[in-house]
Amino acid sequence: MSQDTKPQIVQSGTNAVKIVVVGVGSVGSATAYTLLLSGIVSEIVLIDINKDKAEGESMDLNHAAPSNTRSRAGDYTDCAGAAIVIVTCGINQKHGQTRMDLAAKNANIMLEIIPNVAKYAPDTILLIATNPVDVLTYISYKASGFPLNRVIGSGTVLDTARFKYILGEHFKISSDSIDACVIGEHGDSGVPVWSLTNIDGMKLRDYCEKANHKFDQDAFHKIFEQTRDAAYDIIKRKGYTSYGIAAGLLRIVKAILENADYSLTVSTVGDYFGVEQIAISVPTKLDRRGAHQVAKVTLDEKEEELMKKSACQIKSVIDHLNI
Ligand code: LAC
Repeated sequence: MSQDTKPQIVQSGTNAVKIVVVGVGSVGSATAYTLLLSGIVSEIVLIDINKDKAEGESMDLNHAAPSNTRSRAGDYTDCAGAAIVIVTCGINQKHGQTRMDLAAKNANIMLEIIPNVAKYAPDTILLIATNPVDVLTYISYKASGFPLNRVIGSGTVLDTARFKYILGEHFKISSDSIDACVIGEHGDSGVPVWSLTNIDGMKLRDYCEKANHKFDQDAFHKIFEQTRDAAYDIIKRKGYTSYGIAAGLLRIVKAILENADYSLTVSTVGDYFGVEQIAISVPTKLDRRGAHQVAKVTLDEKEEELMKKSACQIKSVIDHLNI
């Protein structure tokens, strides 16, 4: 009896979902592991310039896999039929570097790999995680020729998660009771939207009054600094970040596959805050078509000004690349 060289994908029902992860470094392997355990994906294909690494990671993953999910190493031809292709490859931020410092090198890597992905998976959704993610989301949009809705960057989904976690620690409550977000650049010019932050359905100031907490502007500024500098603080200690971004990418994948009716602060291409043709994060609804509803978020004057600065920062790096 002929042996199928590829592991049998045990399907529950007909919802076979294939996801490709390009780049199996610290972010890509953590993302593959998170997707595998989520049970919402039936096939995870790993692509890496280091084929042994991709094979080793997929072999190891299969020893943790639920019965309905399998992982395997592949090449760009294996992108065919993928619902989503997640791009994590590139050089990562070292201690003392900003994400924007990686722009030139990682833009060239995107220009190399995105056309290959687009060639074999012309209908897929591109989910970019490589930094600087806003700049590279824009570069990937140009390099893929895909429509706007099918090129998404992880953006400030991770910053928003960090912001809610740190707020929860400050108020000693679950971050699930906090509705808050960071928008703009996934980086040093990101913008905490204090004016829209609410806890248990109350504006921050009202919550502080009700919960007998001091409305402490200095503390809130420190909370934002901790959010903004989280990656630096982690990279200084462990050399890279992985689990937070992997969980953020899973949130995005789930929102796409489950036609979610909530928004996530992902990065998409458009004209924002008077700056044309950039990618930047604002609350956006996602479904199987990709990004389909970018919120016209109402900001206060200071937040509006900060978003303009963030948009200009991203635009200047894109223009400097001269691609
Ligand atoms: C971080 C990386 C993903 O913020 O930019 O952890």
